[in-house]
Amino acid sequence: MSDQDSPLYIQSNADSSVPDEVIKRAAWLRVEIDKANTLYYVENSPELDDAEWDARMQELLSLEATYPELKTSDSPTQRIGSAPASGFEEVMHRLPMLSLGNVFDEAGLRDWHRRTLAFLEIDHAPMVCELKIDGLAIAITYNNGVLEQAATRGDGLRGEDVTANVRTIRSVPLKLRDDAPSELELRGEVFLPKSKFASLNRERERSGLPAYVNPRNSASGSLRQLDSTETAKRPLDMYFYSLGYIDNTVEPASHSEALSAIKEWGGHVNEWTRNAETIEEVMAAIANASLVRDTLDYDIDGVVIKINSLTLQKRLGYVGRDPRWAVAFKFPAERAETTLKAIHVNVGRTGALTPWAELEPVMVGGVTVGRATLHNKDEIVRKDLREGDRVIVQRAGDVIPQIVSIASKNKRNKQSLPFQFPATCPSCNTRTIQTEDEAITKCLNTACMAQFERLLEHFASRSAMDIEGLGERVAQDLPRLGFVSNIADVYRLHNRRDDLIKVDKMGATRVDNLLQAIETSRSQSLPRLLFALGISGVGSESAEWISQRFGNLTAIQKATEEELLAIEGIGPTIASTLCEYFALEENQKLVEDLIELGINPSDQTPTLLEDHPVNGRLFVITGKLEKMSRAEAQNQIKEMGGKVTSSVSKKTNYVVKGTDPGSKLNKAQQIGIHIINEEQLRALIIEGVVPID
Ligand code: IVH
Repeated sequence: MSDQDSPLYIQSNADSSVPDEVIKRAAWLRVEIDKANTLYYVENSPELDDAEWDARMQELLSLEATYPELKTSDSPTQRIGSAPASGFEEVMHRLPMLSLGNVFDEAGLRDWHRRTLAFLEIDHAPMVCELKIDGLAIAITYNNGVLEQAATRGDGLRGEDVTANVRTIRSVPLKLRDDAPSELELRGEVFLPKSKFASLNRERERSGLPAYVNPRNSASGSLRQLDSTETAKRPLDMYFYSLGYIDNTVEPASHSEALSAIKEWGGHVNEWTRNAETIEEVMAAIANASLVRDTLDYDIDGVVIKINSLTLQKRLGYVGRDPRWAVAFKFPAERAETTLKAIHVNVGRTGALTPWAELEPVMVGGVTVGRATLHNKDEIVRKDLREGDRVIVQRAGDVIPQIVSIASKNKRNKQSLPFQFPATCPSCNTRTIQTEDEAITKCLNTACMAQFERLLEHFASRSAMDIEGLGERVAQDLPRLGFVSNIADVYRLHNRRDDLIKVDKMGATRVDNLLQAIETSRSQSLPRLLFALGISGVGSESAEWISQRFGNLTAIQKATEEELLAIEGIGPTIASTLCEYFALEENQKLVEDLIELGINPSDQTPTLLEDHPVNGRLFVITGKLEKMSRAEAQNQIKEMGGKVTSSVSKKTNYVVKGTDPGSKLNKAQQIGIHIINEEQLRALIIEGVVPID
């Protein structure tokens, strides 16, 4: 570049604040830097040397500093992060971000494969195997090719807006190549390369910060920095593994085609993929993946197997939060030996007494483990665990560490005695009971302080009402000092400001912040409130489905078991627990109090199944359907609130007639049941068109 070409020599143009030449130069720099970044971070074949890259970046930065109008959100300079945010905004995913069902061996895999083919009533479906990257899932929306928003998975339906942070990841294109669809969402996994993990931790320790336990935690810690300039310092990377929402300008037929397209548009796609026709081929791919595992610069915890055809994927749909069309084959868990120092018992928010093990800290698969879950009383007896024993600890992915067995009975101290499970609640001393089916020891005292403290902590937790300042300690203090004795009291605390300030370690600022956070939590959504109530088995996802169906707290309270069961993903246990919960007078009073205190969110989009002509109707299918399998038809009918039974009776509303119908058709004709064909069934389900006799 000659001196004359340098932007510093360009005179300002009187008509426009930014001279044309500067605009052109900035555009050229952006293209060059982007090109160099793609070659370096995505294609792994750098062409520009570091000094040249730096010079171009510096020039672009100074141009943008002189002419701020020049800045665009897709400029490579935007990767350096921006001013700290005060929190992350919530993002509603356009399509839910699903999770994956796990299998741990060949038998489990074969089972999944058999079920999948049976669902579709076919006997073959090509598959694709991919590495299961152990990082965190991110969805990125591109608008006209420009990165617009990036969100975490969150609970699958709503995530956190981490756009500023994701922009700093070098391998994430800020702008896709021109042929990308104008509305596009890409999904993938953000991770921290193993090689960068150790140096990051050394740096943290030098600055007096706690070390991260593994690359996955460091990736998620790095992405959740409120100050994205901090994220920019972390060498994060990302692999895309699927399309999310996409406009209809391109329609890839298969997952492999989708991956190639993402690559074409400039996305970083993992190289290691294997096509497989049979389970033998899948097993061979898994064997290969575990062989190369140690040579990779990122952690993987298994292989993901996906049905390749996107049409079949769509037909398979999902059950709960797992797609039927994919499964994760998890690598065996990592194990280590250590000493079981002591067994403790916790009282949970539903009264369950859960034992846990305090361990001599030990490294298991790169993570220091100091605690393990012991599930219940029976498990301690079955494994004959005693304090002081040498034990084998196991950790698999995200799962809480577990004790597999005693390492060796010979090493046991001769004086050790079997563990005596407390016969009374460690918190309130009430005699406990043992549930017959679940082998859970419970404290049934609804006034038990420990239970209420846990409930309060859960109520205020981040994924529930998100009340900052109401953590473990405050959740203990407030009930113990008599400030709250039920959940509704939280919203009465503002009347006690002066008393609260007098509490040890609280002080005016803390109290005001807490009261403010409580005030803010009033506008939390219905699913969050329902989840926050801490009803056994009601997680944030089931809370979401229930809220969508009923729309407000009063309607949920009145829901019958049948109505709840008709919701896809809600099983008999949740349905009956929910009904039992709302049948209790004290819980009815709680709902009443909350509503009176103004905590009465409503879901804007309840699915008015009542109005759908499938809701509450009984169907019988006879013969073979052409466009969908029976399982699919059954699933779709169920989603709309209907039910499929196997025999025709007077109660049957519709008999669906396929090819080669059986005797059910005759019976339907005899008793005069409405007979419809597959086309009419589809119209009924999808468009709500009621067939005419
Ligand atoms: S497919 C519905 N492919 O694993 C399909 N996921 O345990 C879900 N993951 O939340 C995504 N590597 O964050 C898919 N090649 C891969 C993956 C992958 C890692 C993560 C993903 C997901 C989690 C489920």
